[in-house]
Amino acid sequence: AFVVTDNCIRCKYTDCVEVCPVDCFYEGPNFLVIHPDECIDCALCEPECPAGAIFSEDEVPADMENFVALNADLAEIWPNIAEKKDPLPDAADWDGKPGKLQYLER
Ligand code: SF4
Ligand code: F3S
Repeated sequence: AFVVTDNCIRCKYTDCVEVCPVDCFYEGPNFLVIHPDECIDCALCEPECPAGAIFSEDEVPADMENFVALNADLAEIWPNIAEKKDPLPDAADWDGKPGKLQYLER
C-alpha cells in the first residue's frame, strides 16, 4: 500500500484524493491517511502530492516508518474523503517543516 507521511500534516492539499481510483483516503483535522487494505498500489497519488508526502510502503524513509501503522490505525477511525478541497490556510508556511507529527490532531 501507499502511505501518507509527515509533510501532509498541517498542509492537507488533498490533490491526492482526486486521482485515487478506489477512494481509499480518510480525513482527519489536519492530515490524511490511506487505508492499506483498500489501496491497490496504482501509484497515481504519489506524484500528485505537492508536499511529497506520499510513499510506497517499502520506500517510506526510515525515520517515518511509524506512519505505516498510523495510516492503518487512523483509516479505521476517520471518515472517507473522495473530493478535493482547499488546503489548510497555512499550508504554504508548514510545507517542508520537519517533525510535524507533534501537531497531528485526531
Ligand atoms: Fe489510491 Fe492508488 Fe494512491 Fe493507493 S496508490 S492511495 S489506490 S491513488
Ligand atoms: Fe496530504 Fe499531499 Fe494529499 S499534503 S492531503 S497527501 S496531496
